[in-house]
Amino acid sequence: MPNNPLRSGGHTARIAVIPGDGIGKEVTPVAVRVIQAVASQHRRPIEFVEFDWGADKYLRDNVTLPDGAVEMLRDEFDAILFGALGDPRVPSNQHAADILLGLRFKLDLFVNARPTELLHERFTPLKDRIPNDIRLIVFRENTEGIYVGAGGFFKKHTPDEVATQEDINTRKGVERIIRYAFAYARAHKLRRLCMSDKSNAMTFAGDLWQRVFQTVRAEHPDIESRHLYIDTLAMELVRDPRQFDVIVTNNLFGDIISDLAAQLAGGLGLAPSGNLHPGRTSLFEPVHGSAPNIAGKGIANPFGAVLAAGLMLEFLGWQDEAHLLKQSVRAALQEGVTSSDLHGSKQTGEVAEWLVHYVSQHS
Ligand SMILES: NC(=O)c1ccc[n+]([C@@H]2O[C@H](COP(=O)([O-])OP(=O)(O)OC[C@H]3O[C@@H](n4cnc5c(N)ncnc54)[C@H](O)[C@@H]3O)[C@@H](O)[C@H]2O)c1
Repeated sequence: MPNNPLRSGGHTARIAVIPGDGIGKEVTPVAVRVIQAVASQHRRPIEFVEFDWGADKYLRDNVTLPDGAVEMLRDEFDAILFGALGDPRVPSNQHAADILLGLRFKLDLFVNARPTELLHERFTPLKDRIPNDIRLIVFRENTEGIYVGAGGFFKKHTPDEVATQEDINTRKGVERIIRYAFAYARAHKLRRLCMSDKSNAMTFAGDLWQRVFQTVRAEHPDIESRHLYIDTLAMELVRDPRQFDVIVTNNLFGDIISDLAAQLAGGLGLAPSGNLHPGRTSLFEPVHGSAPNIAGKGIANPFGAVLAAGLMLEFLGWQDEAHLLKQSVRAALQEGVTSSDLHGSKQTGEVAEWLVHYVSQHS
């Protein structure tokens, strides 16, 4: 993540915590505990304020994202640590759409950062791969594309029904995500950047992405940049992930290709993400959902949430602390301290204890 000096003036970091639903309520407290352990070791002042937004509140009070919430988060907090939303009692998922998509759009979190790193070789489905082979980051445009909800029905519920879904690409939106990806590559001394689209078939949007890409790459001769169609990228990622450091693409393709990349390094349980706007309040979450099928059993894997917390610390400019968080997860995997989804036998609470102990011993 880019170094984002705390907006509060470099003093106490203020973090809004939204655990949400299901296992979000089990894994987010683990992430908070591990951050607290690291922050106290390194004498970093940090303050957490928890919000109970989720299905329970929606069903009880009919409130999803309360009035004034976006402004409060924007003005009073440095970052948001988010769990997951989704509850079988709310089949429409209305509360999740209002809260999560509401925050992404209203805070203008235009970068969805999805790093993938193989922390232990036994978690990749690929043959003969070692951790160094899979270390890349996907930047997905997060506020435009086909997910903006533009479109409609014509003759709905008739045999002649038509549905349209429009793919919105603005010059500003395309340019800022491509520029962000190049800036990230340069700042992190990553040599290779790949822009991916489907400009051979989606010619109008693709033309814009291609033109912006050519302009921005010309300003970054120090970075080896190339273009791949999204279908080719999917094949190449599986064939040889060592080719990739930074990938930048649109909302839809980024959604899919970042899941593919995550699976190469162990899947849902180990995948974090950041929803960012440099210099503004940004939101960090594990990639997995609320997993109602295991909620309340104490067996959820907290690593995705802890790695998301690591991204948040990096975003706040706490590089050493972020490194320690990731190191604690790597060590737990090495020692086999994992929940059942990663073939271990530990409860969520036992993994939490182990991580807290690790960071307090390794500061
Ligand atoms: N960002 C989000 O808040 C988000 C993301 C995805 C899905 N959801 C919502 O979550 C709900 C469930 O969705 P789903 O089942 O498709 O996806 P999911 O990620 O919740 O679960 C998929 C499978 O992976 C397992 N799993 C997921 N995270 C795990 C963890 N940390 N530890 C152990 N096992 C884990 C689950 O038990 C389940 O078998 C839905 O309401 C969905 O809309 C929310």
